[in-house]
Amino acid sequence: MSTPATLASDEASFQHESVDEYLSTWAGEDRSRQRVTALINGILDAACLLSERIATGSLEGDPARLVGSNSDGDAQKAIDVASHALFVEILERAGAGRILSEEADEPVVFKGSGFGVAIDPIDGSGNVGLGAPVGTLFSIIPFTETEDPFLTSGRRQVAAGYVSFGNTIDLGFSVGDGMLLATMHPQTGEFLIVRRQVRIPPDTSELAFNASVHRHLQSGLSLYVHDCLAGREGPRGRDFNMRWLGSAVGELHRILLRGGVFFYAADKRPGYQNGRLRLVYEANPIAFLMEQAGGRATDGTSAILDKVPTSHHCRTPLVFGSATEVDFIASYLNSNPTSE
Ligand code: F6P
Ligand code: MN
Repeated sequence: MSTPATLASDEASFQHESVDEYLSTWAGEDRSRQRVTALINGILDAACLLSERIATGSLEGDPARLVGSNSDGDAQKAIDVASHALFVEILERAGAGRILSEEADEPVVFKGSGFGVAIDPIDGSGNVGLGAPVGTLFSIIPFTETEDPFLTSGRRQVAAGYVSFGNTIDLGFSVGDGMLLATMHPQTGEFLIVRRQVRIPPDTSELAFNASVHRHLQSGLSLYVHDCLAGREGPRGRDFNMRWLGSAVGELHRILLRGGVFFYAADKRPGYQNGRLRLVYEANPIAFLMEQAGGRATDGTSAILDKVPTSHHCRTPLVFGSATEVDFIASYLNSNPTSE
């Protein structure tokens, strides 16, 4: 079907470099960069296939059908398990040495050393089947034969990114040389760069957190929320807005585009003493991108990238986004330490 004139853009033509072209220029003759490039291209091939499956919704069976549970007892949906298998198959072909996925208890180990890929195949899977955004997060870490690439600090990452499956399919990524955004062309499946050297505005008045847990938050964070909600009459002296998509990748994409702050902190509910998100394949890639874009990511008070994982699937409280606001949250937490 050709695009009717009413939907065609008023700008006649765009020239966008593809991510493939960008990465092959970046890699040049460097063997190690070529290997990273192959892994990212593999992830994008898989994401393109996954986007087609997501777009068919329940036309090809219910993607949200419960099929099991992962190591921590989180329910696994059909699409969680299918996307895990897809990424493992494609990443093996693309030369991954090891893969740590949210959907498997143990890392998948292939021959040799090189690069490990930590991946959350479908983030925000509570949104599956609802037409709301979901995403994929990935992190690429070099390792030698004697190391576990997934039990080292996030500072070891050489590349990280996400694909957000919303009403556009967007890629955010960095190979350590600034943060870029690309959009998948729906007809060709090619990811085309739309923004380079993305910078997150340091100040923001937009919050993302699950407000239903306000009463369970630690005192410092609870006070922070209270002061924001008091708006222009309160100590912050301005009104705040709120967005909660229920998908960390969706929030990440929005915050990269227009600033904001996200938190999923430790709270007093049983099982939430370290929040909900996983350090290795959720917080670390987000933190890598934040630092590349001039934002911040902490566990409330300390940089995520300095944390050493205690296990493959360990959780961490996570605060990320506009630098001034993330620092502000840390100051509330530091001056109101929790007594428990
Ligand atoms: O990966 C965990 C996750 O799906 C995030 O993407 C999202 O921010 C969060 O859980 C939503 O959690 P809750 O349902 O507790 O609000
Ligand atoms: Mn997730």
